[in-house]
Amino acid sequence: MEVHVTGNAAALAEANDFKRFKVVMSDRPAAGFASLGADLRSALTFDDADTAWVSCTWLRAAGPADPDWLARFELMLDKARPMGWVSADGAAIRAHVEWPLAAGDSPAVGDAFRKAMRRLAATPCLVTTLRDGRRHGMAATSVTSLCFEPPSILVCVNTGASIHDPLDAEGRFCANLMGGAHSDLLGAFSGELKGEARFSLGDWREEGGLPYLADAQANIFCSVAERWRYGTHSIFVGQVEAVRADAELDPMVYLDGRKGRFATA
Ligand SMILES: Cc1cc2nc3c(=O)[nH]c(=O)nc-3n(C[C@H](O)[C@H](O)[C@H](O)COP(=O)(O)O)c2cc1C
Repeated sequence: MEVHVTGNAAALAEANDFKRFKVVMSDRPAAGFASLGADLRSALTFDDADTAWVSCTWLRAAGPADPDWLARFELMLDKARPMGWVSADGAAIRAHVEWPLAAGDSPAVGDAFRKAMRRLAATPCLVTTLRDGRRHGMAATSVTSLCFEPPSILVCVNTGASIHDPLDAEGRFCANLMGGAHSDLLGAFSGELKGEARFSLGDWREEGGLPYLADAQANIFCSVAERWRYGTHSIFVGQVEAVRADAELDPMVYLDGRKGRFATA
């Protein structure tokens, strides 16, 4: 069952599907939920941006005038009650609110975007640089092939990350593609260890003034050709100067916050 909200009007859809229940918004009220018209407010009230309480009286009136449907609706309420989805006075049922994806930078879009990105599998890289004799490193999934003419990659680095300023100033970095056996390094290079301590794990060596992981899937040595700021991040274009890629093919695959390995279907 779905409650479709357009402007100040609500309508019941999928009335015979008693297994699902949600509110689908066609747009976001410009002046907040308080600006919703009285008609709509008698149908539903928002708990927060993601949940609303839908009036059972409104649902009974919006559904088909059919005693069977009403009986099935009461059964649905009986099932929802022990889950805490029916209000204490029995007057409203709780629903998840679905927002349109094109609603700019609303929190709902942020949540949906995060959820979408959790479905994007990636091989993390350890991005490293050396500045004034000190090594810096960070785990990143934003390393992407940019083009072959000239050979170049992208990496997006949060301006608050410890590697950001040294990388920006040094203008050179190495992208070390992680293998399935580098599980410990991912945590270390994403915050569990700090600064030089990150390099206490793994077989780190140096070439051309850049730290590289000897048994990485590949090491891509780059000089920064372009950089831009966008939002919280800097986008660095790395022009590829040298590459090592002779390890056995066994990339780490990062998906939904979990580390795994690649297998063909
Ligand atoms: C799998 C994974 C991928 C990440 N990708 C990026 C990335 O592409 N860009 C970025 O700025 N931070 C990324 N991070 C977060 C940084 O690794 C982490 O914030 C940073 O190392 C910690 O900052 P610090 O060096 O200041 O302690 C990623 C973290 C993980 C676990």
